[in-house]
Amino acid sequence: MTDDGYVVRRVGADEWPQARALRLEALADPAAPVAFLETLERASARPGDFWRLRTRHAAQGEEAVQVVAVARDGGRWVGTVTCLLEEPGSGDVAGDAVERRQVHLVAVYVSPEHRGRGVLGRLVDEALAWARWRGAGRARLFVHVDNPRAQAAYRRLGFVLTGRGFTSDAGEELEMSRAL
Ligand SMILES: CC(C)(COP(=O)(O)OP(=O)(O)OC[C@H]1O[C@@H](n2cnc3c(N)ncnc32)[C@H](O)[C@@H]1OP(=O)(O)O)[C@@H](O)C(=O)NCCC(=O)NCCS
Repeated sequence: MTDDGYVVRRVGADEWPQARALRLEALADPAAPVAFLETLERASARPGDFWRLRTRHAAQGEEAVQVVAVARDGGRWVGTVTCLLEEPGSGDVAGDAVERRQVHLVAVYVSPEHRGRGVLGRLVDEALAWARWRGAGRARLFVHVDNPRAQAAYRRLGFVLTGRGFTSDAGEELEMSRAL
């Protein structure tokens, strides 16, 4: 395989400072108001323990996993996807009942200077490999109606609009999904 300049891997349990820094970078991005439900102000105010616990949880890989892209040149973290396992019968963010074991992709971000290089595809491949290993048969996510770049990127990765969605504080969120 050719080297595209990135290492794509799961977070380590102790890597919460890097996870926090990338999350704050994402929340400062101009696209943040239509990309994330959390604000920079809110995330900045969270204590170190919050990040420590969240990162440890995502590193254990039982119910969630965080996958990151690290630039080989310099070691900077430049992309991230978090994948949450959803069990049948649980309620979801849209107020619907989950029908089958599936995953929900959240907190999707690639640093601006690394966009358009296939980083998202590699992140999603790694996250979905974990999802299959956990027995999930479907992957879904929500994307804002006014976030065409993300919609196009997901479409390229095989996600299609399901016709479902919900209204967040930021507006209309559309569900996209694909089979695993
Ligand atoms: C969404 C994101 C992860 C996608 O990663 P990326 O590297 O930019 O994705 P790609 O370049 O592979 O694909 C983007 C697609 O949008 C297209 N595109 C680029 N700019 C666009 C724009 N302004 N409007 C519409 N489409 C656009 C590209 O041509 C490409 O489509 P194609 O594959 O059919 O040519 C990245 O842009 C990002 O982090 N954005 C900010 C945070 C965000 O929106 N997260 C998603 C929350 S749901």
